Amino acid sequence: GETYYHNWNITETSYTRLCSTKKILTVNGQFPGPALHVHRGDRVFINVVNHGTYNITLHWHGVKQRRNPWSDGPAYITQCPIQAGSSFRYEINFPIEEGTVWWHAHSDWSRATVHGPIFVLPKLGTSYPFPKPYSEVPIIIGSWYKGDIMKIIEEALLYGGEPNASDAHTINGQPGYLSPCSKAGTFKMPVKKGKTYLLRIINAVMNEEMFFAIANHSLTVVGSDGSYVKPITTKYIMITPGQTMDCLLKADQSLSHYFMASRAYVSGHVGYDNSTTTAIVQYSGSYTPPSSPSFPTLPEITDTDSATIYTKRLRSLASKEHPVDVPKSFDTRIYTTISVNTLPCVNSSCDGPNGNRLSASMNNISFGDPSIDILLAYYKKIKGVYGTDFPNEPPYYFNFTSDDLSINNSTTLVGTKVKVLNFNSTVEVVFQGTNLVSGENHPLHLHGFSFYWVGWGFGNFNKTTDPKGYNLVDPPEINTVPVPVNGWAAIRFRADNPGVWFMHCHLDRHASWGMETVFIVKNGKSRLTSMRRKPKYMPPC
Ligand code: C2O
Ligand code: CU
Repeated sequence: GETYYHNWNITETSYTRLCSTKKILTVNGQFPGPALHVHRGDRVFINVVNHGTYNITLHWHGVKQRRNPWSDGPAYITQCPIQAGSSFRYEINFPIEEGTVWWHAHSDWSRATVHGPIFVLPKLGTSYPFPKPYSEVPIIIGSWYKGDIMKIIEEALLYGGEPNASDAHTINGQPGYLSPCSKAGTFKMPVKKGKTYLLRIINAVMNEEMFFAIANHSLTVVGSDGSYVKPITTKYIMITPGQTMDCLLKADQSLSHYFMASRAYVSGHVGYDNSTTTAIVQYSGSYTPPSSPSFPTLPEITDTDSATIYTKRLRSLASKEHPVDVPKSFDTRIYTTISVNTLPCVNSSCDGPNGNRLSASMNNISFGDPSIDILLAYYKKIKGVYGTDFPNEPPYYFNFTSDDLSINNSTTLVGTKVKVLNFNSTVEVVFQGTNLVSGENHPLHLHGFSFYWVGWGFGNFNKTTDPKGYNLVDPPEINTVPVPVNGWAAIRFRADNPGVWFMHCHLDRHASWGMETVFIVKNGKSRLTSMRRKPKYMPPC
């Protein structure tokens, strides 16, 4: 493969949206950030120079970073942040994934504006498992906040309440036709009648799952999270923060333009951003513009049935060229509750339920950031930075998904606990959603791997009957799994990537509240099954 070198400058640049101007963090002044185009097998070096006033890190979401957690990016997990005025060089290798992955900042809430797409094309000499599209277009669904994003989360954490919702959703950085002062900037995708386009759709929204559709057109989903799926023809998709969906769009209509639109799917929480963002599919040629352009029909904002119907259709392509390798059994099962709950307030009084502060946890442990990154502590065997006693099971059992909140959830502990896995062991993780402070979908994301999503359902996981319904033939191979509201999801993977790998909810407020943990995968016996050596320079804390 090829090797590419890029220089990325983190700058604060003025952008105007929703009738007001503010400075946002960007890469090279661009929002959304630059797209990376690579072929499978390529390698990219990116020298990040931080000209901003905040510390920052970048993460390559969906890239496995085999044996190389040093370049993975999450702050205090695999590196200390790149401080204002300094720089750090990331190395990103693409031997495995094919399709759409993306990159985003992974410190504080800077990913709201610091993100961009990664197109991983088939290795030279090979081709897509579908006819080559005429052209490829990134569709990044995002969030726009009028306020200062860093202050919003800082204050929410300080006072313990909900962070402010965003002021608009965006498509490729634009709120679109329906938002104040935004019509003119609406993103336009030019098309030629008869051609087929590949939309590389990314949900970069901070806190909402999204529905997306295009008026009068159907979409054919062919990939997700950097691997191929069996084609699904659909009028709408549901996409969760962190996920990507590759969709073919055939330009087969006869008016001059059609709207695409996206709005939240909210499974159980109030105070969300319910704005609809729009963009335009613009046919070239001399058509008469429609007098009143139509918007696509999107499922209702709380329509769990539509979300479920769509998501249940996802299957791995499972072809000869793109086989599946689902572990048929497992060495370790981790059964973890994921909850939003509360902790005692550290100030005099907090804005959360009953004067407490909102928190979130996995198996009742709310993840607390360590003082130096876990990777360095592991590598240098520095004691006292993290504990290896992440519980394998919930500390107590109750009816997780009932509305009876008699369970006392004040016993949540703040801790930096990791789960250690043996090299090459097979792992099953069952995420059990709960209904403590709020019941809601949680998109759980794992770094360093893609995993097979073998089963899910509503209600409490039953370890005798539910595994009988697992799909071990063609489950989707993904890196972010939407755990259904009041339900569970089971994933399997092989721990064949030595290193330190973050796992967290991709709703940023839940991650900030502690719905996070870390896997440490031990080295194998040989050099090629061990983590790479520490690069000479890593940013200091
Ligand atoms: Cu897309 Cu840890 O994140
Ligand atoms: Cu969550």
